[in-house]
Amino acid sequence: MKVFIGTSSFASFNNEPLRMLEDSGIQYELNPHGKTLTEAQIFKKIEDLDGLVAGLEPLNKKVLGNARKLKVISRVGVGLDTIDLKEAERRKIRVENTPDGPTEAVAELTIGLIIDLLRKISVHDRKVKGGLWVKMPGNLLNKKTVGIIGFGRIGKRLSALLEPFQASVIFYDPYVTEGTGNSIKVELDYLLKSSDVVTLHLPYTEETNGIINNEKLALMKKTAFLINVSRGGLVEEEALYRFLKEGEIAGAAMDTFAQEPYHGDLCKCENVTLTPHVGSFTQESRQQMEIEAVRNLLNYLK
Ligand code: 8YV
Repeated sequence: MKVFIGTSSFASFNNEPLRMLEDSGIQYELNPHGKTLTEAQIFKKIEDLDGLVAGLEPLNKKVLGNARKLKVISRVGVGLDTIDLKEAERRKIRVENTPDGPTEAVAELTIGLIIDLLRKISVHDRKVKGGLWVKMPGNLLNKKTVGIIGFGRIGKRLSALLEPFQASVIFYDPYVTEGTGNSIKVELDYLLKSSDVVTLHLPYTEETNGIINNEKLALMKKTAFLINVSRGGLVEEEALYRFLKEGEIAGAAMDTFAQEPYHGDLCKCENVTLTPHVGSFTQESRQQMEIEAVRNLLNYLK
């Protein structure tokens, strides 16, 4: 049995997932590149694998076409948008993920980014380090309206974490009928028009591609902030750049991008906080996700 581990930071915090593989007599190889494999790299690698512990490498039709004996793709993470699920099904490759692992980490990062934007923490930090002692007024989260787009595990957890701030939570999710706590379900346009902070917590699919485009950004208040810690393709980055540059919205925080690593125009904006896709990247969450991913893998390889 041959297994490749695609996530570059795998077992950095805890040896348990590797021990589980060794105990099962499985031969594994860790990602030797220190970053996400390119299409060409994973295309070559996948050829003689029985199992893949997958990070965010592209597992499209072409790549899966080269998998001669792959039985299982076990994602360390929740998103499945990097995998051609139809092709995997056609080739009888089992696909697993770790839906609960990232929840707490992503919800907490979102709280951090909301306060960062409202109090301009990152902006102040860059100014002070640049020799400028300037004080820019912030705003309270208390009594503000937070609009959550996508009310699954992460959206619901975020909503609960917002309660002590006495923020009003409204959410848009066509697949969820009822709110939790004090949250209220609304239509997307209403959410965009009414929120002080809009935050995205939904998967990337054909249906959600570019859900935040020019037309939707135009509905947001000039004083509002946008946060995307789910998937890059949800936000049209060039449109967001124009809105930020022209002061049509107050600011944004982005953790995920259409192309990663990201080097685009948003790097030029002062009113943007950018992080390198670290939503789930806490030691606690990663350990949980890695162990769960190996367990899922072993279930199908044994
Ligand atoms: C990545 C994520 O999986 O859960 C997801 O879908 O985007 C992240 O947790 C992770 O960074 C790559 O292994």
